[in-house]
Amino acid sequence: MSTTALSDIPCQRLECDDNFTRKRSHPNDGCRRAKDIVIVVVVVVAVGALILALVSLAKPGHFEVEYEQEFNGPGFPWSKDKIWTFAIGHYGINREYLDEATGTIKGYNVDIINAVCKIANKNCELVYDDFARCWMSVAGERAKGGEGLLGGWYDACTGWGITYDRSRSFSFTKPYSKLAGVGIYVSNTTTNFDWTNLRGRTIGFMNGFSSDEHCLARYADDLIQGSKLSASAGQIVYYTSLEELVAAVIDGNVDAAFCYAEPQLGQLKLLTASSFPNRCALGGFGMMARKDNPTFVTWWNDAFDKLVNTAEYRMICRDLKEAHGHMPGQNPEDVCL
Ligand SMILES: *[C@@H]1O[C@H](CO)[C@@H](O)[C@H](O)[C@H]1NC(C)=O
Repeated sequence: MSTTALSDIPCQRLECDDNFTRKRSHPNDGCRRAKDIVIVVVVVVAVGALILALVSLAKPGHFEVEYEQEFNGPGFPWSKDKIWTFAIGHYGINREYLDEATGTIKGYNVDIINAVCKIANKNCELVYDDFARCWMSVAGERAKGGEGLLGGWYDACTGWGITYDRSRSFSFTKPYSKLAGVGIYVSNTTTNFDWTNLRGRTIGFMNGFSSDEHCLARYADDLIQGSKLSASAGQIVYYTSLEELVAAVIDGNVDAAFCYAEPQLGQLKLLTASSFPNRCALGGFGMMARKDNPTFVTWWNDAFDKLVNTAEYRMICRDLKEAHGHMPGQNPEDVCL
């Protein structure tokens, strides 16, 4: 406490109403006495404040409380109260579906989000939205990022295959599913088809899948001769449903299909071995996020690493069949890490 502050106070303001006393004695006595009283009061208050400060220092958590009040307000980037939002669709499969009884989205993806957010101690909320707002794919055009995720309507989109195309627009968490297999399929009646040489062959593809003509071309150097197909020679045909693709192979409209091992492909004969590498995708399903949101990817990956070796993760996997098995979809052994 500076004494300058005290001496700056005009004497009149320190005086009591006892004008008579002042006038009788030394004109400045009353003023001095008043100043002395104020100094004593100020010293007492200062010592009290010091004691209070020491007591609060000794109490652990005091600064944390102040820190939280100051920095953890809504919107502050480090806030523990931030709500992390995940866009989720309704695909009618065991990974994501609308449960009519509860009116909520359920499935493997939801179970993973709940478990990871619990470990990371984060507030997470699902936001139902059209999947095209996560990833925009129009037949005949190059697919691109959806306005919802790019525009920051949410922090992440659930369960997207980690592909080359999507990685140009978005970042991904570590995959939380196995990478599915791709292969070359022909009709059961087809003989003498050499899958290592596709020169002059017509191949059917599924529209919107990463098992496209660009992926097939990645096998050209070592595994498949002539796998860089020519569109102008009519070697490339796209179908909008798996049923159409399978029918086209059976009817002989295309010589073979290049596709993921979807259940519908069981109608056909798989030529490539189970060890045939998948060069169409970089990983299984992950959480897809904007590239300017690395904080999300970091905390998610740290927490997921902790989850994956637990009994809880094995229960989530079992629930793919038990809790969510009334919906179509892949089996735990095909999905879980
Ligand atoms: C082709 O063979 C598989 C396995 O033998 C069979 O499950 C499938 O039904 C057959 N497809 C057709 C079209 O007959």
